[in-house]
Amino acid sequence: MSVEQTAPPRALRPAERIAVAVDVADRVRLLELVQALKGEVGLFKLGKEVFTALGPAAVELVRAEGAQVFLDLKYHDIPNTVAGAVHAAGRLGVRMLTVHASGGEAMLRAAHEAAQAAAVPPLVIAVTVLTSLADADLERLGLAGPVAQAVERLARLALGAGADGLVASAQEVGRLRRGLGTAPWLITPGIRPAGAGHQDQARVATPGQAAADGADVLVVGRPITQAPDPVAAARAIAAELGGGAP
Ligand code: C5P
Repeated sequence: MSVEQTAPPRALRPAERIAVAVDVADRVRLLELVQALKGEVGLFKLGKEVFTALGPAAVELVRAEGAQVFLDLKYHDIPNTVAGAVHAAGRLGVRMLTVHASGGEAMLRAAHEAAQAAAVPPLVIAVTVLTSLADADLERLGLAGPVAQAVERLARLALGAGADGLVASAQEVGRLRRGLGTAPWLITPGIRPAGAGHQDQARVATPGQAAADGADVLVVGRPITQAPDPVAAARAIAAELGGGAP
């Protein structure tokens, strides 16, 4: 665990560094969370659950409330199909979206080019190796490991092909920031404020640790959405990130 700041984060206010993962399937609950939290966090991360349940209306709901969307659908397909999906996401006005780096260089370039065509280009954030996979899984998949090396290989491939940043677990973020410098956006899930329950997350970091290791944006779901007071939970995280600065 690093206690030193390994790289200065880009100039973001503490609240802008929080992406709240809204893993719900219900429109009313989504609206309730967005209305409560839109002044407290930078992004609402909409993933496969909410998008499959509600479709683009989920993105439109967040945008209509004046808030930003991180569309986490982890695109992985042939370049033409991914380019079409990224174009569509751009038209919906998302701020950030995810693709799988393992989709390969041509797919990553197609995603980058499609993003650039949007009026406000969304940031293309690449997923390297899913944190649910261990060295033995890579071996069974016939992929060169260990995981740490595969992460670095895929990270460099993605950034070289135009990705703006990476999803980096709390375990990876310090190493990636040191190795890749300040340019890439690093987005870190698995965040648990001290004292919060871990739920199904095996390895977690506090907001302060992840930020000190070089994360730009922290993905926080249940510690905010399932807190008795989600606004207070988001404010406590922002305070940890910025000493309470506005
Ligand atoms: O509720 P919690 O804070 O665990 O939510 C974390 C969010 O980040 C979920 O939407 C989860 O799918 C996502 N995520 C993750 N670990 C990764 C990549 C994404 O927890 N390695």
